[in-house]
Order: sequence, then structure tokens, then C-alpha cells
Amino acid sequence: MKFKYSKRMLLIIPLVLGIVIITQLPRLYTARQTTAAPNTTSEGAATNSIKIKLPDPEPKTDIYTPIRQEYDKSVHAQSLKVLNDQKQTPGGHVTNSCYQCHSYEYAIAPDSNKPSIQSLTTSITCGTCHTLDAKGYIAFRNAANPTELCSSCHVATGIKPGSAVHNSQSNMFKGTGALGIAAMPDKRYTDGISCADCHMPNENHTFVATLPSQALKDKTIASCYLCHATEDEQKFATHVDQIQTDLKNEAKTFDDRLAKDSKKLAGLTSTPNYNQAKQLTDIVMTNLSFVENDKSWGVHNLDYTKTIMDDIGKKLTQAEQLIN
Ligand code: HEC
Ligand code: HEC
Ligand code: HEC
Ligand code: HEC
Ligand code: HEC
Repeated sequence: MKFKYSKRMLLIIPLVLGIVIITQLPRLYTARQTTAAPNTTSEGAATNSIKIKLPDPEPKTDIYTPIRQEYDKSVHAQSLKVLNDQKQTPGGHVTNSCYQCHSYEYAIAPDSNKPSIQSLTTSITCGTCHTLDAKGYIAFRNAANPTELCSSCHVATGIKPGSAVHNSQSNMFKGTGALGIAAMPDKRYTDGISCADCHMPNENHTFVATLPSQALKDKTIASCYLCHATEDEQKFATHVDQIQTDLKNEAKTFDDRLAKDSKKLAGLTSTPNYNQAKQLTDIVMTNLSFVENDKSWGVHNLDYTKTIMDDIGKKLTQAEQLIN
């Protein structure tokens, strides 16, 4: 029998083809998208891809693998995670501006074209601090030297009475920012010693500054002896520990006094001395957090730290005279 296309067949064939195409199109499209963006690790990144092309976050060569492995152990490699964790905690005020220091993509994109928060996948990484220059060397991004590089994030801005200060390391080292205290740069800063001299000895990318007593315990070398070479190791360790312990104890006493005074003040809002006492405790609160959240307990700038602490003691006594 001779096969003949019926008129009905001529209608059915394009119809079936059409259905096949329509049902398979989305799958084809997704496959294309995945091959076009092999570097994106999460779905969010694929759907919210940034419109401009950012530089690669890491240099594409194996010679940096040892640095990469060291770097992965550093806190910087967790900077996006700590923000995301904070977001999960009730009352953890995470705003877009937080990502400026905590995320690779957000920090590096121009202000006019910030990526969406859901699309962020990368913590602080090589490309945050370095660019590859023409010779293939790793140059600093937007910074003249290591101290200025670190200071772009480890800095407290908009310091005002009554609000807590965070990451004040750069302010402390440069001796500026504490309320009502004259500028007092650390001698090492004015001598051109950098954050990296202590936090990255031999270009160590864990960024840990090892204290002398810790180094004795771990039988490693503290990042101090490059300069404090003439010191007896045991004596220097005891000396530094004593400085830190004294400051921590003093801060604890001040914290307790401030808490007691603030509680008392809250019941005195309509008394004549209230405003004056409140002004004093607000400054104390801010300057105390400036010292505590520097976290170096004297090492970044001993003279400035001591001057701030003396002033806190005086202001607390004045406030207590006004309210007791
Ligand atoms: C100017 C840069 C900068 C900005 C903006 C910034 N951070 Fe940070 N953040 C840092 C630095 C630097 C550290 C580490 C400093 C330290 O440990 O003292 C840090 C540490 C943290 C940590 C680790 C825990 C801790 O307190 O040590 C959390 C959580 C955090 N930041 C949350 C936030 C949130 C929430 C925001 C937005 C409200 C924010 N950060 C904005 C620079 C910044
Ligand atoms: C937080 C900033 C920061 C990050 C992130 C960072 N580096 Fe560095 N890197 C530095 C600093 C600062 C120095 C210089 C240290 C010094 O001067 O002692 C340096 C030095 C280097 C050097 C030596 C350069 C030279 O001229 O000899 C290499 C190579 C390097 N980094 C590679 C990397 C790689 C690879 C990564 C990512 C795995 C990375 N860095 C991540 C800050 C950073
Ligand atoms: C792009 C912003 C940025 C730059 C540049 C940067 N840091 Fe950080 N740093 C952070 C953030 C954010 C954290 C907190 C990360 C976390 O808790 O996971 C941090 C954490 C640290 C910590 C650990 C703090 C702690 O409480 O445990 C040290 C030490 C440190 N940084 C030193 C440095 C040094 C030294 C440099 C310069 C070579 C530098 N950082 C450059 C943002 C930065
Ligand atoms: C003279 C050496 C030295 C210099 C210079 C120095 N640091 Fe430190 N830094 C230390 C030591 C020591 C500690 C305390 C570590 C401890 O108590 O475990 C510390 C603590 C810190 C911490 C808190 C780390 C933690 O684990 O709690 C951060 C962040 C930090 N420094 C960043 C900086 C930055 C940014 C600069 C430059 C603006 C800088 N440091 C300059 C030695 C130094
Ligand atoms: C790159 C050089 C350099 C490094 C590294 C360095 N220091 Fe210093 N340090 C100095 C200089 C310079 C002074 C200032 C001496 C002066 O004021 O005359 C100083 C002063 C100090 C002081 C205050 C004076 C005193 O002895 O009481 C302390 C504390 C101190 N350093 C601790 C440390 C610790 C801890 C480390 C290691 C984590 C360290 N330094 C690493 C150069 C350095």
C-alpha cells in the first residue's frame, strides 16, 4: 500500500513538534545559563549577576596555593559568614553598608552599581587587597601601603558621645578619634612601621600577631623580635602580659562603675545635675568601647590608651560626685 500523507497528518506533525519545543525550551535555556556562568556557586548568584565585570577574586596561577591555604584559615575568609550569622540573630542590625567591609563583590563594585545582597558569595579575598599589575606582581588595591590598606576597614568613623565604637585599630595606632583627647600617634606609626610588620611577619596571610608569651608557650617566634631584638624573651613576655592584664582589669572596673552610674542616672532625669552627668557618662561609654574594641590592650599605642583610660577614670569620678 502506498503511504500517503493525509490532510490530518499534515496538521498533527507541526502540533507535536510545537509541543516538544515548548516543553523543552526552559531546560535548554537553563543549561545555557549554567555553562555561561561556570564560576557562580549559588543559584542567587546566577539570577542576580552583576552587570559590570569585576576582576577575578583570585590570581589564576598555582604558585599562590600555599598563600591561599594559609589565607583560608584566617578570619578574613569568614567575613561574609559572620554577617550572615548576625543576620539570623534577633536584633542583629545588618544593613547594606555592612557589606562594604565584609564582602568581596560589594566592596569592589562602584557605588553606582552595587550588587544585590542575595547575590554575594565571596568573603574578603585576594582581590580585595591586591590587583595584579602589569609585571604580574601583586600590588595593593587603592592603598599606598599596608597600614592604609588595613585602615580602610579597621577604622571607626562618626564617633559620637553615647554610641559604641567598633574596629578602632587604625584610630588607636594613629592616635586619633577618642573624644576630648589630644592626638597622640604611636611612635611606630610615625616611624613608618605598618600593621603588617606585626600581623604579617614574613607575609604570613593568617594576619595573627603572636604575643611574646603565646610564642613561648607554642615554641614559635613572636612578631615582636624584628625590633625588640635586644629584649630578654621571658622578661619581655612578662612585661607585655602585665601591661595587658592591668588594662583589662582597669577596663573591667570602669565597666562596672559605668553600669552602676547609668542605672542610677536613669532615675534622676528631672534633677538639675542630670544633663552634666549624662554628658560625662556618654563620653565614658564611647571612649571605653574605643579602647576595648581595639582589642590590642596597649600594644597598638600604649601612651594613647593610658591617657584615654586616665580621662575615663576622672570623668567617672566627676559624674559620681554629681549624682551621689
Ligand atoms: C568600616 C568597615 C566595616 C563595616 C562598615 C562593618 N564592619 Fe563589621 N567588622 C569590621 C572589622 C575590621 C571587623 C574585625 C574587627 C575586630 O575584630 O575588632 C569586623 C567584625 C565584625 C563582626 C565579628 C564579630 C566582632 O564583633 O568582632 C561582626 C559580627 C560584624 N563585624 C558585623 C557588622 C555589621 C552588622 C555591620 C553593619 C552594621 C558591620 N559589621 C559593618 C569592619 C567593618
Ligand atoms: C586583607 C588584605 C590581604 C588579603 C585578603 C590578601 N593579601 Fe596578600 N598581602 C597583603 C599585604 C599587606 C602584603 C604585604 C605584606 C608585607 O608588606 O609584609 C601581602 C603580600 C602578598 C604577596 C607578596 C607580594 C610581594 O611583593 O612579594 C603575595 C604573593 C600575596 N600577598 C598574595 C595573596 C594571595 C594569593 C591572596 C589570596 C589567597 C592574598 N594575598 C590575600 C594583604 C592581603
Ligand atoms: C576589606 C576590609 C578589610 C581589610 C582591608 C582588612 N581587614 Fe582585617 N578584618 C576585616 C573584617 C570584616 C574582619 C572580621 C572578619 C570575621 O570576623 O570573620 C577582620 C578581622 C581581622 C582580624 C581578626 C580580628 C579578631 O577579632 O579576631 C585581624 C587580626 C585583622 N583583621 C587584621 C588585618 C590586617 C593586619 C589588615 C591589613 C593587612 C587587615 N585586617 C585588612 C576587614 C578587613
Ligand atoms: C607592634 C605590633 C602591632 C602593630 C603595628 C599592629 N598590631 Fe594589631 N595587634 C598586635 C597585638 C600584639 C595584638 C593583640 C593580640 C592578642 O591580644 O592576642 C593586636 C590585636 C589586633 C586586632 C585584634 C585581634 C584579635 O584577635 O583580637 C586587630 C583586628 C588588629 N590588631 C589590627 C591591626 C591593624 C589594622 C593595625 C594597623 C592599623 C595593627 N593591628 C597594628 C600587634 C600589632
Ligand atoms: C617593626 C618594629 C617593631 C615591632 C615589630 C614591634 N615593636 Fe614594639 N616598639 C617598637 C618601637 C620603635 C617602640 C617605641 C619605643 C619608644 O617609644 O621609644 C615600641 C614600643 C613598644 C611598647 C611600649 C613601650 C614598652 O616597652 O612598654 C610595647 C608594649 C611594645 N612595643 C610591644 C610590642 C609587641 C608586643 C610587639 C609584637 C607583637 C611589638 N612591640 C612589635 C618597635 C616595634
